Amino acid sequence: MSFPVIRPRRLRRTPLLRGTVRETTLAPSNLVLPLFVADGIDSPVPIGSLPGHCHHTVESAVLEAEEAARLGIPMVLLFGLPAAKDAEGSSAWAADGAVQRATRAIKERLGDGILVATDLCLCEYTDHGHCGILHGQAVDNDATLDAYARVALSQAEAGADVIAPSGMMDGQVGVIRQVLDGDRFGDTPILAYSAKMASAFYGPFRDAAGSTPAFGDRRAYQMDGANLTEALREVQLDLDEGADMVMVKPAGPYLDVIAAVADMADVPVAAYQVSGEFAMITAAAERGWIDRDAATMESLVSIRRAGARLVITYLAKDAVRILNQPRSS
Ligand code: PBG
Repeated sequence: MSFPVIRPRRLRRTPLLRGTVRETTLAPSNLVLPLFVADGIDSPVPIGSLPGHCHHTVESAVLEAEEAARLGIPMVLLFGLPAAKDAEGSSAWAADGAVQRATRAIKERLGDGILVATDLCLCEYTDHGHCGILHGQAVDNDATLDAYARVALSQAEAGADVIAPSGMMDGQVGVIRQVLDGDRFGDTPILAYSAKMASAFYGPFRDAAGSTPAFGDRRAYQMDGANLTEALREVQLDLDEGADMVMVKPAGPYLDVIAAVADMADVPVAAYQVSGEFAMITAAAERGWIDRDAATMESLVSIRRAGARLVITYLAKDAVRILNQPRSS
């Protein structure tokens, strides 16, 4: 018997063989495409910090959703940019706000052909850029919950298939569940941004959404990225409050958190590959330092391997294009 008897390389010899033993897959049905819808523009405006993405009009958001559906992407996640901001972020619950109008228009055009999830937060709508209503320099948790309830209702009334609260206020899932249940939206699921870290990787998004805090930072409500036990506690609280799906955000720097959440949660887990993760891949590829397609797939498969069922990513359309190419790996 010659040494070694066990040779793992036997299963790596050809693309077909590698394909048969691949443990983790990525399919279009795992992907969620974020879309920005703006009030007060006549045509789509490219977002400098997110190459390939635009501030959409309602009409161009419908076209994007249509393309996503055609590619087999099951869900879009809508963010809104209002024409006017104020201290309370009151445009967030306007029945004719960009998100509400886009939700109606997409559901009208595509019906069950695509799911519309709506991000629920105030930071794009407040003139100070914080995710809630201020009391002095601090975000007042419980006053903010009342505002979130109004936003949830306006989004559900517009036809949102999934409500995704992202503000990291304590009790937000419970309050939203209660208001939805009390107003004939008992069947509308909540995708909770449960473990959302105070992260440097949101930079390009804040440029895109004009939501950089005017003072201070978000560390008094978003989580400290150093904490895993606390992330699990946040997830458990959201489950107790009725979350139908839970999210970890960002994704790539927090693969261990995704894995631990997938282990303990009895609901589907989502992970958000955020704007800064997209930026790193895009910028390095522009410089010729990495292969964009290969890095796209490697990053997304890693997030799936960690345990995410759904991946929210600015690379969703690219990923489907890559998946549709003849395999050489
Ligand atoms: C806040 C919100 C953020 C993102 C989406 N919604 C983060 C923040 O500004 O704190 C970030 C998404 C991204 O970076 O892609 N409601």
